[in-house]
Amino acid sequence: MSIIIKHIDCLVTCEGSYMKKREEMKDAKIIENGYVVIEDDKIIAVGSGEGYNDYIKENSEVLEGKGKTVTPGLVDPHTHVVYSGSRERELPLKLNKVGYIEILKMGGGILSTVENTRNASIEDLAKEARKRLDVMLNHGTTTVESKSGYGLTLESEVKILEANKLLNETHPIDIVSTFMGAHAIPKEYKSCREEFIKKINNEMIPYISKNNLAEFIDCFCEEGVFTTEECRTILETGRNHGLKLKIHADEVESVKGAELAGELKTTSAEHLIAASDEGIKALSDNEVVAVLLPSTAFYLMLGKYARAREMIDNGVAVALATDCNPGTSPTESLQNVMTFACFGMRMFPEEIINAMTINAACAINRQHNIGSIEVNKKADIVVFDSKNLNHLIYHFGVNVVDKVIKNGKIVVDR
Ligand code: NIG
Ligand code: FE
Repeated sequence: MSIIIKHIDCLVTCEGSYMKKREEMKDAKIIENGYVVIEDDKIIAVGSGEGYNDYIKENSEVLEGKGKTVTPGLVDPHTHVVYSGSRERELPLKLNKVGYIEILKMGGGILSTVENTRNASIEDLAKEARKRLDVMLNHGTTTVESKSGYGLTLESEVKILEANKLLNETHPIDIVSTFMGAHAIPKEYKSCREEFIKKINNEMIPYISKNNLAEFIDCFCEEGVFTTEECRTILETGRNHGLKLKIHADEVESVKGAELAGELKTTSAEHLIAASDEGIKALSDNEVVAVLLPSTAFYLMLGKYARAREMIDNGVAVALATDCNPGTSPTESLQNVMTFACFGMRMFPEEIINAMTINAACAINRQHNIGSIEVNKKADIVVFDSKNLNHLIYHFGVNVVDKVIKNGKIVVDR
């Protein structure tokens, strides 16, 4: 099976299988009048002009790229896409200025989703998540990281991770699994939190690692949730069991989460809305990818965003993600995130696309397979109905995907 896209007005390759920083983030390696040749599930040629003719075979499908922007398949490196129910009842509370952590302390927020999720079967969870994955794919996302964390018992955390596995096998989107047992203290451990942390360290992590249920471990390092010291022990235990590290750091308050990420040299640190100057330096010095989630900052109505500009200027590799979850970012669309990244954080279109492709791939350790359009990479590609990259970011609020190619097959054709 061979697909050729020819005469592409704006072919955004994001070439180079490594973290893009500083000025490199502003270079998306764009080819004008470009072409891409796909054979089976791989990219076999990339160039400009008429060179694609050499690859035309009897069964080749040749697509017209005039008026289109073509990018690598979008990578969403931070989601909580597997859960049950929804939380629209929190909306009036939010409008009455009840804070996110306050709602959690009242037993709502994450804990209310925990209740629904504990009552759902693997099949129920997969069914609900599959719908969301369909929306993601339709909006150009081809790889998704998916965290557990709405179970908070060994059994129900495993159920979520099993749903990830099932979805990875049955949905076109590739799923990367993260264990996030340290998402909240469950109500049954409210008065003995140390016991819950012991359970994570002594039971959950060993079981999940032994059964290959996750590749990464994450924890919610936040005032009123897990302390920086608790997160240190959890992440260290995860590392000792072969898991790679991620951390929800400094989302609402600065608790030196970014500093901890630097010290432990985690693969990525996420949110970082309140990260300190020292925290930003720690990320840069230790090559930790900063995964920024501007749709969450918007939805929490914090009136501020992560300091993307300072991060980029200080040499931090920035990635972007949806954080798709029922509380702080009920959206599947990375195109929405493009809007918030540009208009909320003043990121440039080239920076945004690098942040959603190659840098996002770095945040889940997949930079050698996906995240750029170059020879030998997996043929995950999006065709947008936009005549150039600025146009893609400038035109907002609607889905401008024309086609999505996943593993060399057209899976979305609008
Ligand atoms: O990334 N911060 C922690 N977890 C999610 C929110 C989860 C929820 O509210 O259900 C986040 O924002
Ligand atoms: Fe999150």
